[in-house]
Amino acid sequence: MENSTSSQKRINHINVVKQCKEEGFPLWECPNFLFLFTGLLAVISMGATYILASYYFPPEVVIILIGVVSFIMVVISYLVNEGIRRITQSKKELSKSNEALSFALAEARREKKMREDFTTMLVHDLRSPLEAVRLIIELLQEKKKPISAKDWHDSLMSINHSVANMLNLITNLLDIAKFERGKFLIHKHLDDIQKVVTLQIENFKILALSKGVKLSSNLASNLPSLSFDEYALDRVLANLIVNAIKFTPAGGEIVVQAIYVPKGNEIKKLAEQYGMKWFVNSSSPFIPSISHSILVVITDNGIGIPKDKLDKLFLTFSQVITTQGTVKTGIPLGTGLGLSIAKAIIQAHRGIISVSSEEGKGSSFYFSLPTA
Ligand SMILES: Nc1ncnc2c1ncn2[C@@H]1O[C@H](COP(=O)(O)OP(=O)(O)O)[C@@H](O)[C@H]1O
Ligand SMILES: [Mg+2]
Repeated sequence: MENSTSSQKRINHINVVKQCKEEGFPLWECPNFLFLFTGLLAVISMGATYILASYYFPPEVVIILIGVVSFIMVVISYLVNEGIRRITQSKKELSKSNEALSFALAEARREKKMREDFTTMLVHDLRSPLEAVRLIIELLQEKKKPISAKDWHDSLMSINHSVANMLNLITNLLDIAKFERGKFLIHKHLDDIQKVVTLQIENFKILALSKGVKLSSNLASNLPSLSFDEYALDRVLANLIVNAIKFTPAGGEIVVQAIYVPKGNEIKKLAEQYGMKWFVNSSSPFIPSISHSILVVITDNGIGIPKDKLDKLFLTFSQVITTQGTVKTGIPLGTGLGLSIAKAIIQAHRGIISVSSEEGKGSSFYFSLPTA
């Protein structure tokens, strides 16, 4: 049995035609076959030369003739093999570059589709608040009776809500354009972070109110001054607060909190001491050790974020456009610009930004800003 398999192996080894087929070469381009073929041709031509020459010439001439024929056959065999080797190599290279080309084409198509989805999303996000404003104006125009103070108030709140969301999106688009042209420059100045946070909360109070969500703050009184870019920090806070309002249903609550962390191992203790709220009751989720930093936490009890989405939230802009524009079903998600802008800004301040969240319970987005 063993004997028959080993003899089969030997036959396969000798079976050049089979080998060529397995390697994917046509017979006349297969190096193994051509080697055998030119060898055979050399033997035949030398034999023929010997037989023919020995009839007409003396032995010394026969030997010289065989030498010449052998030399010619070696040259021919070399040229044939070399020619075929080059053809095979260029064919291989061609098929490799064809493969690379079709891969690049598929990538470009995928990217184009994602960009189209992103544009659809963008147009949708810009169009729907405008539609809402137009609808409110139409309703007010149609009213037969005089418009009550309450109707005026509600309508203005809705208009404010739509305009604020649209404004945030447009500012994000302008920021992204600046980032991409390398024109988003961070100019840090020593300033009071408490003032900036309080102002932003005031800015978004009406937006929260129009959604029926409570927006409040809890800022420690010992926050030191630090160097930061006021516009950039405004954009981080605006995006995190707008998101919290957007993803928290009416009746929900949002709180913007800030503490000073002198030593990394004190976060938990300080968070408890200042009564910081996290989306769950635990005193604080895992935060990488930070020291000499201000920690800002924005907690909401809104819809929360599914686990499988968490690691994609802060992707950079290009990744956002290519991966977050669509989900498996092809339904656009959101432009996903806000958090990537926030991450770029916080990183430019040498801080960290992250989130802990649970679907159905709420989210705590937090970031740190080093004071030294
Ligand atoms: N507070 C939050 N609660 C629940 N989901 C959130 C919250 N903040 C952000 N998200 C999720 O992160 C995604 C990305 O947010 P963002 O980058 O601001 O883009 P966008 O607001 O345009 O969707 C959102 O689409 C949403 O799914
Ligand atoms: Mg957003």
